[in-house]
Amino acid sequence: MSALDFTQTSTTRRVGEDERAQILADPGFGSHFTDFMARARWTLEDGWGGAEVVPFGPIQLSPGSAVLHYGQEIFEGLKAFRHADGSVWTFRPQANAERLQRSARRLALPELPIEDFLASLRAVVAADEPWVPEATSEESLYLRPFMFAGEEFLGVRAAHSVDYYVIASPAGPYFPRGVQPLVVWISDDYSRAGAGGTGAAKCGGNYASSLLGKREAAEQGADEVLFLDSETRSSIDELSGMNVFALTRDGRLLTPALTGSILEGVTRSSILTLAAERGLQVEETHLLISEVLEQLSSGEIVEMFACGTAAVINPIGEFRARGGTWTVGDGGSGETTLSLRQELTDIQYGRIPDRHGWLTRLV
Ligand code: COI
Repeated sequence: MSALDFTQTSTTRRVGEDERAQILADPGFGSHFTDFMARARWTLEDGWGGAEVVPFGPIQLSPGSAVLHYGQEIFEGLKAFRHADGSVWTFRPQANAERLQRSARRLALPELPIEDFLASLRAVVAADEPWVPEATSEESLYLRPFMFAGEEFLGVRAAHSVDYYVIASPAGPYFPRGVQPLVVWISDDYSRAGAGGTGAAKCGGNYASSLLGKREAAEQGADEVLFLDSETRSSIDELSGMNVFALTRDGRLLTPALTGSILEGVTRSSILTLAAERGLQVEETHLLISEVLEQLSSGEIVEMFACGTAAVINPIGEFRARGGTWTVGDGGSGETTLSLRQELTDIQYGRIPDRHGWLTRLV
């Protein structure tokens, strides 16, 4: 039972039916927002309260709010999928709720109880149900819960008043080119996270620190940036907002181990399960960039892909670095990559049985 009751304060829609249909016909990623949002507030004195669903719109924030100065902020990403019978479901939300709690602990923010997190998702999706794309599409409603230090205070300490919101945005493919093999730039100047830092937390700061690397990647004609560990710059961490996998010719599926500097991806964990079930030997390991590049050249590694909630599973076709370029397989989309993607999305859209109990109904 959720302690918070997200009551809706208004039912007036912000966007007309025609405009919504136009947006849903080609939503892209992250540019359009729905009619409503959920919010709640935590204070040191009273804990969580003030839960409501309100019209989507600007947040009033003091210029002295701690988040604007010290970046005390965390977030999550999930999707709502429409099934053929019209019902709406989300994927492994408990895992996101638990990760939000872990991120909160790391950023000295209050933990939101799991039931309240789930209630906030239900409330937004119930209010914004017409925004969930049709079951016949490969689109979804992306849900973005986030929490920040709204307190007006410039001393450096954990905030005594914190705001939580869930906003929603209809989503097509994350990458503008769609599900096409990515070109990935290997950053040797920047790292995303250091030992003892916030690398495993889903906090805005990690993404902020990835932006220069991402810009450098774009300047090199690449779609994404790959970060190496900050200490030795020898092992693979992750991309700017996605985990990374490599498949060898002899059926081993490799991904960096959770050493504290990479995000514990929900898609990552689901892939490990699905891959093991189809007989691949999954290994969470120390992936040395030198070995990976060598094995790409020798043909030992045959496929690589990026994964995350937004990106789902996206093939990688090429790596670029100052020292050269390396093609992955034949540079196209790997067969196993696409087949894992198909299986995962078939589960999410209810096209095959949910044998792991990963889906939660929202509407
Ligand atoms: C997600 O996959 O949900 C993320 O938060 C990553 C971001 C690149 C959109």
